[in-house]
Order: sequence, then structure tokens, then C-alpha cells
Amino acid sequence: MAEEKFNDLAQDAPIEEDTSAQQALQYDDAAEEAKYLEAKKQKIEEDSKKPFDPEALLEVRHLRKSFPIKKSITGKVLQELVAVDDVSFTLKPGETLGIVGESGCGKTTMGRTILKLHPSNGGQIIFDGQDITNYKSSQMREIRKKMQIIFQDPYSSLPPRSTVGGILSEPVKVHKIVPKNEIKDYVLELMDKCGLRDYYYERYPHEFSGGQRQRICIARALSVNPKLVICDEPVSALDVSIQAQIINLLKNLQESMGLTYLFISHDLSVVKFISDKIGVMYLGSMVEFGAKKDIFSNPLHPYTKALFSAIPHPNPDIKMNRMVLTGDIPSPANPPKGCRFHTRCPYAKEICKHITPEYKEYEAGHFAACHLL
Ligand SMILES: Nc1ncnc2c1ncn2[C@@H]1O[C@H](COP(=O)(O)OP(=O)(O)OP(=O)(O)O)[C@@H](O)[C@H]1O
Ligand code: SF4
Ligand SMILES: [Mg+2]
Repeated sequence: MAEEKFNDLAQDAPIEEDTSAQQALQYDDAAEEAKYLEAKKQKIEEDSKKPFDPEALLEVRHLRKSFPIKKSITGKVLQELVAVDDVSFTLKPGETLGIVGESGCGKTTMGRTILKLHPSNGGQIIFDGQDITNYKSSQMREIRKKMQIIFQDPYSSLPPRSTVGGILSEPVKVHKIVPKNEIKDYVLELMDKCGLRDYYYERYPHEFSGGQRQRICIARALSVNPKLVICDEPVSALDVSIQAQIINLLKNLQESMGLTYLFISHDLSVVKFISDKIGVMYLGSMVEFGAKKDIFSNPLHPYTKALFSAIPHPNPDIKMNRMVLTGDIPSPANPPKGCRFHTRCPYAKEICKHITPEYKEYEAGHFAACHLL
């Protein structure tokens, strides 16, 4: 279906003749940039006054995270890398939002910024009805147990000198989840839910396989009864045969514990299986966002089409219409002007090189940023 749509668009929108020499004169890049920044500032201000979405567990508005990459001797920031730029979305309780995009597009930074493991440089993070954007670490203490993260690498994310029992009991103690005398039973019950045998309680992380370690990491994240779990490539480091077990475990736990997931992955087949909503990121920006069914049946953005055209079809006899993206991903430290995707987009027009496309809602809950739309 996605391939058919892609072909339709290829026919509908042939690349225009390059009249760039004349058209370039029509664009004053500095003026366009100033206009874009002013409009963005106004929109951010307007949106910051809107009431919080009462149905959302997580609402992210115009989130921005930059890293200084060059400083003067006096410490003044001379150059920054904007890893997350103007990202907005909402996530309801019990939903899974899959985040896809090539390496370096800002998926992990976005997840960590939402958890406030990185301070943000703009926008709002509204979690469970509270604007936590400027919360200090003492205020985050209570919130932190409601938001947990599972990392890609189960090997480095467990302390090697603690037993499984110790690793899982620690957060339960710190956050006073159950009375002291009930901790062991609570942990054993949690281990059972996560497919870990009770005798693992006394064992150390190095005694386990990657899949078992990831189960321990999942159990640790869930030990504090979180509402939101950010899963950052939770199966990428695992054998293919184990990946399905872990994905199924996450799905079952979501149902039994009413969890909400932000699920980051390169693997579109996994994202397609687990997600209710999908966000597509490119060079720090969300270029498309919507319900899974809308994104797969009607992808709007050329980048989404390119990503989806690479998903292998289950039937090997069906010819794939692969849209191969040429050119390297530009550096986020020096992103292209206008649409950031224009250096690789087969439909790019002159306007794309100069004016940043607006991120707009094209059908209910389906957003994208492209001049073609
Ligand atoms: N602490 C940091 N200091 C400077 N730059 C950083 C820092 N952390 C991340 N970056 C940069 O921010 C950009 C986004 O990185 P991020 O790790 O969020 O990407 P990603 O989408 O998770 O990639 P991957 O799929 O490879 O995990 C990259 O260009 C990265 O080099
Ligand atoms: S706005 Fe960007 S994605 Fe859309 S056609 Fe232009 S370059 Fe391609
Ligand atoms: Mg990452």
C-alpha cells in the first residue's frame, strides 16, 4: 500500500525543471529566516498559553535541545548543535509512540530530554498534568519514578557487582514502593512477570545472556510502577530470535500494567508491530507524526516514504519499489537551510532550499512538514 502511494506521488509530482538561477533571486534567505523565526516564536508563545491536553499523559510542545560544541576561552558558546528542534506531540495513557529516523537524528536526545536527564533549551514538557520543564531535581524525585527508561545495551546498564535481587530491590527501597518486609516478595513477583526464574535472585548480571539481562533491565524500570517507559532501541543489541520474545514481553506488560511507551527504534517492522502512533525524525525535527494506520497507509513526507520503501515485503515475489536516498545525512551542527531534507529529497524544488516548511495537521492527528503538501 505504502509503495503504491509512493508511486502515485512520484507521478503526481515530477521534479520541476531547474530554473534555480532565476528563482534564487526571489529568495532573500536572511529575510526568510527572520520571518520563519518570528512566526515560530509567536507560535511557541501562543501554544504555551493553551491549556494542557486533559487526555494526554505526555505533551511535548516545541521541545528544543542543543549542545554547545565550540566555546571561546571565556566560555561563550560559539557554535551549538541542535539535536532536537521544535518537536511537538501528545501521547495518551496506554499508547505506544514509535520514534523512527536515521542514526543521529536526535531520538535518544529527545527521550533523555523528556526525562530531564538533559536540560532542555526551549519548549515545554507536560507530564501527567504538570509542566515539568523547569522542575528542579528535588521536584523531579516524585516524578522520576513515574517515568523510566530502558536502554539499548543491557550489558553496560546493569551494575556488575550487585545480584539481580539487589538491583531490583534498590529502587523499590529508595522510592518506598512497598513496606521493607514485603520488598523481596514484591521483587520475586516482578521477576516472574518479566520471565525471570526466582533462583536468579541471588545471581549476578554476568551470568546471564543479553535477552535475560534486558528482562532484568525491564524489571528494574517497572519496579517503581512507572506510567511512562522510554524504550531506547531495547532490542537492537539482541539476537533476532530473542528480539521477538522481548517485544512480546513489553507488549504483555503494557497491557497488564497499563503502561505508556515511547519506543525508539531503527527497525520499522518492530515499530509497526508495537506502535499506535509514529513520529518520524530527520536532523532533529519531527517531519511527520500520526496514527500508525495513517502513517503506513498514507505517508505524506518524502522522507517517510523513503524509509517505508525500504521495509522488505513478506512476499519475496512482490517487486519492491525502493526509494533510495542519495547523499550523506548532513551534519546537525550545520544543517541545510530551508527544508533540512532538501539535499536528499528527490522532489526538492527551489523553495525547499530557502524556506522551512511549516509543520501542519493534514488530517485529524496527522502532521507533516513539506512544501509539496
Ligand atoms: N552530549 C552531547 N554533546 C554533543 N552532541 C551530542 C551529545 N549527545 C548527542 N549529541 C549529538 O546529537 C545528535 C543526536 O544524537 P542522538 O544520540 O540523540 O541520535 P539518535 O537518533 O539517538 O542516534 P542513534 O540512532 O545512532 O542512536 C548527534 O549528532 C549527536 O552527535
Ligand atoms: S519541503 Fe523538503 S521534503 Fe518537501 S519536497 Fe521540499 S525538500 Fe522534499
Ligand atoms: Mg540513539
